[in-house]
This record gives sequence, C-alpha cells and structure tokens, in this order.
Amino acid sequence: MSTNQLDKKSQAWSALFSEPMSELVKRYTASVFFDKRLWAADIQGSLAHADMLQAQGLISADDLASIQKGMAQIRAEIEAGSFEWKLDLEDVHLNIEARLTQLVGDAGKRLHTGRSRNDQVATDVRLWLRGEIDEIGVLLTELQKALVDVAEQNTDVILPGFTHLQVAQPVAFGHHLLAYVEMFARDAERMIDLRKRVNRLPLGSAALAGTSYPLDRERVARTLGMVDEAGQPAVCQNSLDGVSDRDFAIEFTAAASLLMVHISRLSEELILWMSQSFGFIDLADRFCTGSSIMPQKKNPDVPELARGKTGRVVGHLMGLITLMKGQPLAYNKDNQEDKEPLFDTVDTLKDTLRIFAEMAAGITVKPEA
Ligand code: ARG
Repeated sequence: MSTNQLDKKSQAWSALFSEPMSELVKRYTASVFFDKRLWAADIQGSLAHADMLQAQGLISADDLASIQKGMAQIRAEIEAGSFEWKLDLEDVHLNIEARLTQLVGDAGKRLHTGRSRNDQVATDVRLWLRGEIDEIGVLLTELQKALVDVAEQNTDVILPGFTHLQVAQPVAFGHHLLAYVEMFARDAERMIDLRKRVNRLPLGSAALAGTSYPLDRERVARTLGMVDEAGQPAVCQNSLDGVSDRDFAIEFTAAASLLMVHISRLSEELILWMSQSFGFIDLADRFCTGSSIMPQKKNPDVPELARGKTGRVVGHLMGLITLMKGQPLAYNKDNQEDKEPLFDTVDTLKDTLRIFAEMAAGITVKPEA
C-alpha cells in the first residue's frame, strides 16, 4: 500500500471535507512527536483487546494471529529505531494501526472493532503511568535508604534545631534527616493509593457511549493487570467518564508536586548548611560548580536546581487541572494536552529522586560546626 493510500485510509472522515488541512493545522493538532512515547502501552492494550475480540468470536483466530505477528514486528521496528513515525498520521495510535494494516491487511483494521481512539488513549496513558508509578516507588525507597544511612552515621552529631530559623533546641543530625524519611514515606503512600485509581480500564467505553459489540471488559482488565485489591477486574463504570476524565493524571501530578516540595525543603536546608555562614556540611564536588573569579565559592547547583524544578512540576499540576476545568462531557481534544506535562513531571521526578539518592551518600557532615 502506498503512503498516499495509507493516509487516505487513516482519515476516515476525509470524504466529508472539501479541503485538506494546512501544514500548520496538521502540526498544531498532531501529537505523534510526543505521544509516540506511549507505543509500548498502545501495543499492550491492543493485544489485550484483540485477544478478547477473538475469545468473543468477534474476530477469527487467524486475525488474532496476524495482529500478534504484526505487532511483534512493529515492536521490533520501534525498538530498532527503524519505525517511520508520520506527522500525517497524527498520533501514536493511528501510526501503529496504519503500519499494522500495511503489514497484515484487513485484520489490522478489525483490531479496532468496538474501540475508539478515545478509550484507547485513556487506556494507554493509564498503563504507561502505572509503570512509571511503580518505578517512582522503587526510587523513593532508595532515597529513603540513603537518608537513613546518613542518619545512622550521625546519631551523635548535634545540630541546632531551628524554629523561625532561630536557634531553638539541640537535635541529633540523624533525627533531623529522618523527618524527610517520614515525608517521603507519606509520598510513597500517596502514590500507592492513587495507583488504584490509575489502574482501571476505560476500554469498552468506545467513543463515549459504549458499543453494541458484546465485549468482555473484565477479560481485558485481567489481561492488563487492571485489578483491584481483591484481585477483581477494575473497569471504569461510566463510559462518558471513562473516556474523558483525567483526574487520575491530576492526582498523580498533585502527589508529584508534594513530593517535589519535600525535595525542595531538603534542598533549601542543604544549601543553607553548605553556605559559609553555617558550614554544617559539605556536598561532594560532583554535585556542585565553582567560579573562576571567586575561587572561595562552591555552589550547590543540584539542590538549587531541584528547588527550581519544583516550580516546574507544580506548574504542570496547574496546567492539568486547568485543562480539565470547563470541559463538557465527554472526550474533547483538549485532553491531548495532558501528555507533555505528565511526561515532564515523571521525567523530572525520576531524575531528581535518582540524583538525590546519590547526593545523600555524598554528604560530609562537619560535627565540630
Ligand atoms: N491523540 C488523541 C489524544 O491524545 C487521541 C484521541 C483522539 N480522539 C479523537 N476522537 N480525535 O487525546
């Protein structure tokens, strides 16, 4: 099939339109250059959907085998970097579907039976975010461990405890650090709790009103590991809500903001403690920069940047929550704007947690000060 034919087929509505989209509008409305990041979740969701379609007798066993084979090839192409992402095909979903149809023919089109991009994208974002939340949980534990290690080595070191930043009462340096371990424990709890609401299946909602195909949503939910604490399939109960709400993403970004605020408070203390006026600690050189004309300076760049990046993540929370405000039911294209803030929140959070776990191990305490 030529690219031209492909593009025409992907634009199912084009027969109703008398003029093509301008290049600017195409670029403005396309999301493929950022949402291609969802490719693995998109394939995972499609395979679960296809498996169910076959079990329900909606597609043949041959179709299922073709879809599985085609998706395996697409996965290999994406991993090898040879997959050709096309702006004309708008988003990750249409890019993968078009390639599948090119590889396996009509079976590729039948994959979309009883499904819409609206419930597909909601499913993909949830699957992707669930994986990221799990990684964030591991990184949080590593940071806590690193802080506990420093605390353990410094149980005898006395630090002035402050209120109003006035010297108040003596506390152990270890005790002070463990306050952050508690904050991060609550952050981990929040992640675990909101993960339950992320881990629910929108598929079956179709465009907004469900579908007359006899789908087995519970089966898809089980295949995707979308189950509740009792191991029962977790499916979005209302189709209009399932395709349109992004409160799970807002909730995640809120928890991420709070986590970053805790990081930011710790950063502020590290910065103060390292300044010449306090002189309580030193940070390993690899986390700092110097100045050629003021050689006495050692700037704590990493904690300063983390404090700065907190603003960036809180900004994403404001972005997402404002995105939702004023949207009538059900899906609106506004929701395509959920991805970049969400992706950037996850990237910023993971990098920050990694670097802080390393940096904690590089704190030298100066007990005499
Ligand atoms: N790229 C779209 C998004 O991110 C996918 C859903 C589009 N659905 C539609 N009916 N145009 O939200």
